[in-house]
Amino acid sequence: MRALITGAGGQLGLELIEGAPPDADLVALDRNTLDIADEGAVGDAVADHKPDVILNAAAYTAVDLAEEEFDRADAVNAAGPDFLRDAAAAGGARLIHVSTDFVFDGAASEPYGSDAVPAPQSVYAKTKLRGEMAVLENPGAVVIRTSRVYSRFGRNFVSSMLDLMRTRDELQVVDDQIGSPTSASGLAQVMWRFAGRSNLTGLWHWTDSGSCTWYEWACAIQAEALDRALLIRGVPIHPVSTADYPTSASRPAYSVLDCSRTIAALGLPQRPWREALSTMLDEMVAPPARPKPSADKA
Ligand SMILES: NC(=O)c1ccc[n+]([C@@H]2O[C@H](COP(=O)([O-])OP(=O)(O)OC[C@H]3O[C@@H](n4cnc5c(N)ncnc54)[C@H](OP(=O)(O)O)[C@@H]3O)[C@@H](O)[C@H]2O)c1
Repeated sequence: MRALITGAGGQLGLELIEGAPPDADLVALDRNTLDIADEGAVGDAVADHKPDVILNAAAYTAVDLAEEEFDRADAVNAAGPDFLRDAAAAGGARLIHVSTDFVFDGAASEPYGSDAVPAPQSVYAKTKLRGEMAVLENPGAVVIRTSRVYSRFGRNFVSSMLDLMRTRDELQVVDDQIGSPTSASGLAQVMWRFAGRSNLTGLWHWTDSGSCTWYEWACAIQAEALDRALLIRGVPIHPVSTADYPTSASRPAYSVLDCSRTIAALGLPQRPWREALSTMLDEMVAPPARPKPSADKA
């Protein structure tokens, strides 16, 4: 299988490279080598590399900044997927795209199924919804919604918390927004599974299992990091409300995704989020030696 990975320098992109099947023939293009908001460049890349599958890990992910940068966010999150859909259709490639739990307004109190009605509350979420709708115009494409993605690569809530725990004497973390942390390496494995299953199309949900608030997640990160000497001291962490910690973008109070259809279709169990966090922190201490796939990193 020849696979083109876009956004290959991001945390999910790097995990897609790291976790690629050994026989995958990879073309991994980061933002510098393929701007997905450039229609001509997208068409050329797909025509040149002739992938069987396109795994789109590129996105504008600065949720708060997007409130001031609608055009930039929309170009990457909505127009880019639109261009990728057309290029994939022209080249006969399967497109696998990633979206977000933030497409929901958070008013629910039980997990959102993939048939629940989206009601995005932020610019980022609106652009991501436009992107998933564009991709789903191709009946053979796949969109996977996920949430709270982290990895040992790049910037994410875990790396930000570890930095703050090393530099601050105490922290305040929001305790009234509930979601599911998701390991990017697990999500990458799910994307590779979809890549090999052309009978599975449409909209799917994937996260690690269980849920927590940001505060509960921060407490778990600190406890697990102390256990591994990634931190040399603990700091007090105080729960605060969303009202106490205003941000430019509104975030859903509850955005747990129901992944049961994906679990049944792929035959792949979810990992409890805390177990996946432990594994990632173990890998920060001792990075695994994995066989390298053949990668053409342009
Ligand atoms: N992170 C989360 O908590 C979260 C939650 C739900 C869903 N998601 C979704 O998961 C997917 C993967 O996100 P991630 O966490 O891996 O984000 P990430 O680490 O920010 O990676 C996104 C990558 O896309 C690149 N990019 C930005 N604009 C681009 C463009 N025009 N063309 C090509 N590449 C471009 C970025 O480059 P620069 O860094 O140079 O800008 C970055 O390398 C995205 O679809 C995101 O919306 C993420």
